[in-house]
Amino acid sequence: MVTGAARGIGRTIARRLAAEGARVVVWDVAFGGFDATTAGFEPLLLSTVDVSDADAVTAAFEAARAAAGSIDILINNAGINGPVVPAWDYPLDAWKRVMAVDLDGVFHGCRAAIPHMRERRYGRIVNIASMAGKDGVPFISAYSAAKGRVIAFTKAVAEELALDGVLVNCVAPAMAETDLMAEMTAEHIAAMKAKIPMAASCRSTRSPPSSPGSSGRTAASPPASPST
Ligand SMILES: NC(=O)c1ccc[n+]([C@@H]2O[C@H](COP(=O)([O-])OP(=O)(O)OC[C@H]3O[C@@H](n4cnc5c(N)ncnc54)[C@H](O)[C@@H]3O)[C@@H](O)[C@H]2O)c1
Repeated sequence: MVTGAARGIGRTIARRLAAEGARVVVWDVAFGGFDATTAGFEPLLLSTVDVSDADAVTAAFEAARAAAGSIDILINNAGINGPVVPAWDYPLDAWKRVMAVDLDGVFHGCRAAIPHMRERRYGRIVNIASMAGKDGVPFISAYSAAKGRVIAFTKAVAEELALDGVLVNCVAPAMAETDLMAEMTAEHIAAMKAKIPMAASCRSTRSPPSSPGSSGRTAASPPASPST
């Protein structure tokens, strides 16, 4: 199950998982631009779900479980950038929305999936955070705060589940050229790129070995079994 997988990094992870034999459930708020041929895989199920809505996530999880039989992997990828403004000008409603999608959405996915995974004593959860959550990036304070909390949340839950066969990991990409960039200014993108030692961003459509799409898939794979 991959959230926010109608496009971008989520779609790339979903394609990689499908290529390796997974039956993939795709969640997103908007499927307007999604096309299975272009995406390169045929999802088992497409569900319109807003991950900030706990009840909707629970209902969609049950529908996915009914369709798939069981859920082995959850990739909490859905996310938004929010406005690029100084913290003191950050609009209250935008702050709440970024937290609701980027942080609460991860929690909602986990709380729906974990009881099922614990019962089966098997599960792989990968939360997509960001470099912004490690370093803090100026002018996207809500995004930085939410992603930092995703990293801390992942570490907490990973320890809670370490002996239950359910592994929880986090990927913190620097920059991938996706539609998320439409929410950023050119100046902001340049500042973000300047933080990357190799001074290059990934293209999620190409999925090179080091891409966030590849990292998400790797963290859910058998070779990552000692990692939580
Ligand atoms: N692109 C980057 O440079 C970059 C860097 C670090 C982290 N990330 C993270 O990677 C993840 C994917 O980013 P992306 O670049 O592919 O972005 P994107 O905007 O291309 O894709 C995000 C997807 O999430 C969906 N989505 C948004 N809100 C949702 C909601 N409430 N419920 C369900 N789906 C929702 C969107 O419709 C979209 O399909 C995000 O969590 C993002 O913060 C991206």
